[in-house]
Amino acid sequence: MNDAQITLIQESFAKVVPIKDAAAEIFYGDLFETAPEVKPYFANTDMKDQGSKLMATLGVVVNGLRDLDKIVLVAQQLAVKHVDYGVKAADYDKVGASLLRTLEKGLGDAFTPEVKEAWTTAYGTLSTVMKDAAYAEPVGAGAASEKKPFWKFWA
Ligand code: HEM
Repeated sequence: MNDAQITLIQESFAKVVPIKDAAAEIFYGDLFETAPEVKPYFANTDMKDQGSKLMATLGVVVNGLRDLDKIVLVAQQLAVKHVDYGVKAADYDKVGASLLRTLEKGLGDAFTPEVKEAWTTAYGTLSTVMKDAAYAEPVGAGAASEKKPFWKFWA
């Protein structure tokens, strides 16, 4: 992700902020339509609350793109929490696809190929950090029964 791409992401996200409630609704609508298998994860979730949390977190990430070190730890902790929600590594691509379609709908003509590429790169980076934190196999991991989360390296 280069400097120009970070600017594109920040400028395009600024256009989504005023319509963030609608964007969150479009996002979950799209996700549940295209990946209905993830719906059960949200069985007990207040979707209005969830939409605001998602947009707030995206805001933190988008604003922190020039200082990735600061957001990596938060993203890793968030990813570990997601394991308890039942989320699988493969679900990250589904969420990424819905996010891109939401931006396309929300931004219209402002969703240029460059903006799309910048968001694709940014989401790819973020989701890789999250998946590595939550699902990556430690080097030298033994049989499945011995596998443990990375933060229990001492156990
Ligand atoms: C970049 C990727 C993602 C971000 C930034 C993100 C953000 C968040 C945030 C901020 C929360 C609230 C956590 C809290 O209350 O402490 C959350 C909860 C949740 N997320 Fe994600 N998420 C991401 C990926 C995913 C994926 C791939 C799925 C799977 C479809 C998913 C499903 C959920 C579920 C089920 C919850 C819990 C809802 C509840 O509290 O009932 N998320 N997410």
